[in-house]
Amino acid sequence: MKKPAIKPLSKFSGPLLLAGAGKMGGAMLDGWVACGLAPKRIVVIEPQPGKAVKALARRGLKLNPKGKAVEAAAIVIAVKPQTAPEAVTPLGAYVGKATLVLSIMAGRTIGFLEKSLPPDTAIVRAMPNTPAAIGRGISVAVANAKVSTRQRKLASGLLAAIGKVEWAAEEVLMDAVTALSGSGPAYVFLLVEAMTKAGIAAGLPARLAARLARETVAGAGELLHRSTLDAATLRQNVTSPGGTTAAALEVLIGPGGFDELLTKAIATAARRGRELAG
Ligand SMILES: NC(=O)c1ccc[n+]([C@@H]2O[C@H](COP(=O)([O-])OP(=O)(O)OC[C@H]3O[C@@H](n4cnc5c(N)ncnc54)[C@H](OP(=O)(O)O)[C@@H]3O)[C@@H](O)[C@H]2O)c1
Repeated sequence: MKKPAIKPLSKFSGPLLLAGAGKMGGAMLDGWVACGLAPKRIVVIEPQPGKAVKALARRGLKLNPKGKAVEAAAIVIAVKPQTAPEAVTPLGAYVGKATLVLSIMAGRTIGFLEKSLPPDTAIVRAMPNTPAAIGRGISVAVANAKVSTRQRKLASGLLAAIGKVEWAAEEVLMDAVTALSGSGPAYVFLLVEAMTKAGIAAGLPARLAARLARETVAGAGELLHRSTLDAATLRQNVTSPGGTTAAALEVLIGPGGFDELLTKAIATAARRGRELAG
């Protein structure tokens, strides 16, 4: 996977069309505006716009425009994958020769998008994750053969507004990406739940166990984020030989432990992704 070149959004003249301003589309919209994209350059199609979208509409964003479709410089598709069959085809009216289509729909393949949109459309499929809501997500993107270098930079810029960006050389990797980073936040939340239960089992009051588990995972995550050291070194730094952490890690690293469980869980999620893809 290559490091993307990021293009600042303040230089992007649009129009940028967002289809679906729900949780993820809304987070992207907030990110774009925070990165300097003027609301007047944005068009949103959303049946049930929230307060934030309506507020941007008062600042010039075009919400559910009627009349003849104008050619968009970029279209971001953030509707649910189940909605795609009816939502994607009408977006073809906004596609011109220079339009980039960026889809973040889980499991919806480039092949599906190519069939639903005009011939030769430049398409990027990306998979973000929920920390996007606080600008700390990570997205992996993959492009079809029609995407130019300029459009690739634009896609990187649009995704960088909600966090880090990586590019995959092949679409086949997207099931494993979805299983690791797309679903990954749920594994971390489960870790907090499991640590809470284990703390209660070790005799702690429930409220204290929940607080300790939550703050420990959040703090360790932030430490990892800010540190230049890798996770294994950070782990070794808090593990003295023969101590309490070492005793716990012996259980976690042993047979049937973390590595084995996560390998199995991520392989199962990737397999489910392949079954659902279309
Ligand atoms: N949330 C995540 O963590 C995450 C992570 C990776 C990828 N994704 C992908 O991001 C996409 C959006 O997920 P989400 O969690 O943001 O879902 P969401 O909150 O349900 O947002 C989807 C929005 O699209 C609207 N919509 C429905 N039909 C539409 C149409 N024809 N044209 C325009 N908008 C339409 C929906 O309105 P109604 O509510 O009225 O139907 C809703 O507001 C999904 O494809 C998902 O796979 C999400």
